[in-house]
Amino acid sequence: MFITFEGIEGCGKSTQARLLFERIQKEGFPVLLTYEPGDTQVGKKLREILLSEKMDSLTELLLFLADRREHVISLIKPALLNQTIVISDRYIYSTLAYQVYGRGLKKHFVDTLHREILDNTFPDRIYVLDLEVEKAFERKKSHTFDRIEQESISFHQRVRKGFLELAQENPNARILDATLPVTHLHDIIWKDIHTLLTARRKN
Ligand code: TYD
Repeated sequence: MFITFEGIEGCGKSTQARLLFERIQKEGFPVLLTYEPGDTQVGKKLREILLSEKMDSLTELLLFLADRREHVISLIKPALLNQTIVISDRYIYSTLAYQVYGRGLKKHFVDTLHREILDNTFPDRIYVLDLEVEKAFERKKSHTFDRIEQESISFHQRVRKGFLELAQENPNARILDATLPVTHLHDIIWKDIHTLLTARRKN
């Protein structure tokens, strides 16, 4: 099973990804927690460039996709083949939301590249943690903003709209209210995953 967490910065997805990881581990299933960009050797270097250097939007897209390709081939796919549950903090929707809705690149171009890059590795469940941009940035006030976080409020509003539209079109996606208390959100997510796991065991 492949689960991804998506949303604007400050939505709390990394916390929820970690809580779900710990819960699944406690239940005795093999599970891997990973993230984008940067959770591979090549990815670490790409992440450093992506979060600091000014660059053209298409260059940015190609670097995020290079990171994803490495991530899929070296980590995600081998784990899934090994019957390990994989949880990724960001995946396909982040590129569609940030580079397509945010930067204005063409969706069909990104979809075409994804078809080549992903080796058919699509999530079984996508959680989009949603909240207003202003509220999300309020949560992040205390740390220094990276290159993408420094974008305008309207950029981040387009990104948020992107996540919502993408999730509304996909039966595997769930939109969750990110303003709910952390443990309440975790309970909703765990209940959903537990149902999926039980259904799989029966099949
Ligand atoms: P990160 O510090 O990991 O952000 P967060 O903790 O919010 O996940 O930085 C990742 C940044 O990269 C974030 O601003 C979103 C952006 N991003 C894209 O623009 N496109 C992508 O495909 C991915 C994976 C991330």
